[in-house]
Amino acid sequence: MKTGLYVYTGTGNSLWIARQLALELKDAALHFMPYLSEGFEVEDDRVGIIFPVHIWGLPSRIIQFINHLQVKPETYFFALAVNAGQTAATLVQLQKLMSTRRLSLAVGYSMVLPSNYIPWGGPGPIDTQQRLYRGAQEKVKAIAGTILRGERKKVDRGPLWQNVLFSLIYKMSFRSVHKLDKNFWVDDRCNGCGICSKVCPAANIEMTNEKPAWLHRCEQCLACIQWCPQEAIQYGKKTIKYPRYHHPEVILEDMLEQAKANKV
Ligand SMILES: Cc1cc2nc3c(=O)[nH]c(=O)nc-3n(C[C@H](O)[C@H](O)[C@H](O)COP(=O)(O)O)c2cc1C
Ligand code: SF4
Ligand code: SF4
Repeated sequence: MKTGLYVYTGTGNSLWIARQLALELKDAALHFMPYLSEGFEVEDDRVGIIFPVHIWGLPSRIIQFINHLQVKPETYFFALAVNAGQTAATLVQLQKLMSTRRLSLAVGYSMVLPSNYIPWGGPGPIDTQQRLYRGAQEKVKAIAGTILRGERKKVDRGPLWQNVLFSLIYKMSFRSVHKLDKNFWVDDRCNGCGICSKVCPAANIEMTNEKPAWLHRCEQCLACIQWCPQEAIQYGKKTIKYPRYHHPEVILEDMLEQAKANKV
């Protein structure tokens, strides 16, 4: 049976989860998820969608992917929504979106890992981060068994109040996400290396006079701010005092590979 894992990541957490799952499933092929604007055919019998939760819902890339995916009938779908503790109704949103295309999500799991949302602070103490990695590894093992047995279950979701309130905030903010890059700026540590431009999966950063310029088609993955080797990118006023984060087992080359897969 052919299994494809389609992953999107800003700081490597989702990629690491996808790799853990690939190890457990043994024969799964891992692909970076392209940003789709036209039909995209896959021949997998099982399709896994692995992505970060953004603003209590689906990043636009996931919506585009589902909207353009063409699969064999009876494809078994599973999803892992990687988040920092508030998945809210993200997997319900995914399930509903898929049902508009007559696709059925068999299982959907919330995977809690350190936060990469630097506008609100750092990823937390190292021992807490390590506890989250160990917990996720255990959960992945159980999930792999469920997938291999072809089971169907209710998807993970947050408490009702979160689902209602945060889904509303998601809906209100979704259309303006692409413009949030107006809050990025660079301090005088920027040496013009261009890495921020190269890691951006949305090709949203142009180097102008050896400084990054954001083009307002941002997906808010935060790869640019988190992977800048000089820590020169800031978002608003507070990030200057917060530590940067990416998953310790994911390297810059992985992110460059994802950026290359941007177009099909
Ligand atoms: C724009 C943005 C919004 C986020 N919103 C949420 C959220 O609503 N709930 C949550 O638990 N984590 C949220 N996070 C944190 C990420 O989901 C989490 O850190 C995830 O592990 C990042 O995965 P990645 O490294 O694969 O990008 C958000 C992160 C970003 C960048
Ligand atoms: S990655 Fe950092 S140092 Fe390099 S060009 Fe971008 S902002 Fe400047
Ligand atoms: S500009 Fe930065 S936050 Fe926006 S999509 Fe590119 S890397 Fe992600």
